[in-house]
Amino acid sequence: MSDKIFIFDTTLRDGEQVPGCQLNTVEKIEVAKMLERLGVDVIEAGFPVSSPGDFNSVVEISKAVTYPTICALTRAVEKDIEVAAEALKFAKHKRIHTGIGTSDSHIKYKFNSTREEIIERAVKAVKYARRFVDDVEFYAEDAGRTDNEYLARVVEAVVKAGATVVNIPDTTGYCLPEEYGAKIKYLIDHVDMHNAILSTHCHNDLGMATANTVAGLMNGARQCEVTINGIGERAGNTALEEVAMILKCHNVGLHTDLNTTSIYPASRMVSSLMNMPVQANKAVVGRNAFAHSSGIHQDGVLKDISTYEIMNPHDVGLDDNSIVLTARSGHAALKHRLSVLGVQVDGERLDKIYEQFLKLADRKKEIHDDDLLMLAGADMTLNNHIKLDFLQVTAGVGVKPVASIGLTIAGEKFEAASSGNGPVDAAIKALKQIIRRQMTLKEFTIQSINKGSDDVGKVHMQVEHDGHLYYGFGANTDIVAASVEAYIDCINKME
Ligand code: KIV
Ligand code: ZN
Repeated sequence: MSDKIFIFDTTLRDGEQVPGCQLNTVEKIEVAKMLERLGVDVIEAGFPVSSPGDFNSVVEISKAVTYPTICALTRAVEKDIEVAAEALKFAKHKRIHTGIGTSDSHIKYKFNSTREEIIERAVKAVKYARRFVDDVEFYAEDAGRTDNEYLARVVEAVVKAGATVVNIPDTTGYCLPEEYGAKIKYLIDHVDMHNAILSTHCHNDLGMATANTVAGLMNGARQCEVTINGIGERAGNTALEEVAMILKCHNVGLHTDLNTTSIYPASRMVSSLMNMPVQANKAVVGRNAFAHSSGIHQDGVLKDISTYEIMNPHDVGLDDNSIVLTARSGHAALKHRLSVLGVQVDGERLDKIYEQFLKLADRKKEIHDDDLLMLAGADMTLNNHIKLDFLQVTAGVGVKPVASIGLTIAGEKFEAASSGNGPVDAAIKALKQIIRRQMTLKEFTIQSINKGSDDVGKVHMQVEHDGHLYYGFGANTDIVAASVEAYIDCINKME
């Protein structure tokens, strides 16, 4: 019998902190339900004191999810802990994740404090959190650069104060795998853990997050903190799918309770909702992860798949058939494909997505998974304050681009027209005649989803208004329309 590794998913907290990856509550619930199907043990749902939106998401995820423990992040501050406890009140299984920086650099520059005082604050926070919940995780921020002897004293103190899990984050992604593994071993050998376990939490600044996590697990940690697709601050966190498949492929005496066949749908859903493309050569979930292109490899794979393939694509939920839908596909095919991708839709919502699907299928011969996820995501924006009714653009060589636009704002109709130095400029200028707000466009990227001239273009925008940055997203076969949708998305987020 191998040891169980608890999977703590922080896609909705550390992952969601990434600029441009913010989700609304409905989207977060979709991801949380997907994580539940995937079989994660803990979902870190947010940092409730940080904003009313985060607070609300923790409340709603707590209501929507049954089996995983719902975890809320706090600083070692009483107010944070009280707010987290309040946000978790509907969770069937709840955990507060509190902590403080323990490296000399954090103690000196962040807290202007001393090692002894930090231990006192850590113990106080854990004891306070235990007043509200039985399951308290403590994080020693920047543990990767914290001296092991002192770290052991911190861990001993918080376990004695009631921590059930102690998180050893390599916050800056600095450690070498041997070093991180040795750190975990040192703690296991020198601390009386009672029934508490150690957790890994590795960042990928030097590309070693997964290696460090596996080293931590092989040296005694029994929980790992991960995100789907490895998204997270800077270079990201440890990728869930990588740890899951390493433990499945290698017989190292460790196992998870993950349903690995949900890995691919989860990856696509997170990538699509967070507008964060997965690099083609990404381990396990990249487009090329199972594509054998060189002649020698293809020859070997045709003779026997094991020559070049160490895992079965079906084990991560990749089914090689039926990824293409067309205008002749019916409701049932659409519903089935969306459910393979982790989106459960029925009734009126399915009808609305199907309507959009047919419109897209008229413009595009084949509809791929990303298109479907885009449609399912776009459907969630139907209740927005500002809606685009129509957009007409005249552009070409030797003519001045002109755009006319129609919007519905809180039920009222508006129209305007403008010229510009290009079709996007003309459309945005027309829009600005209706929405007269001081906004500066900071970032504007256009990307195609698949390939081909009939592809859907995805537009990401960053707009500054009143000292705040807003991220918007649009997707359309017409890139001018996608740009306007992204701009409107930014404005809707200001509302
Ligand atoms: O990287 C880190 O140290 C964190 C903690 C807040 C757990 O994300
Ligand atoms: Zn982190």
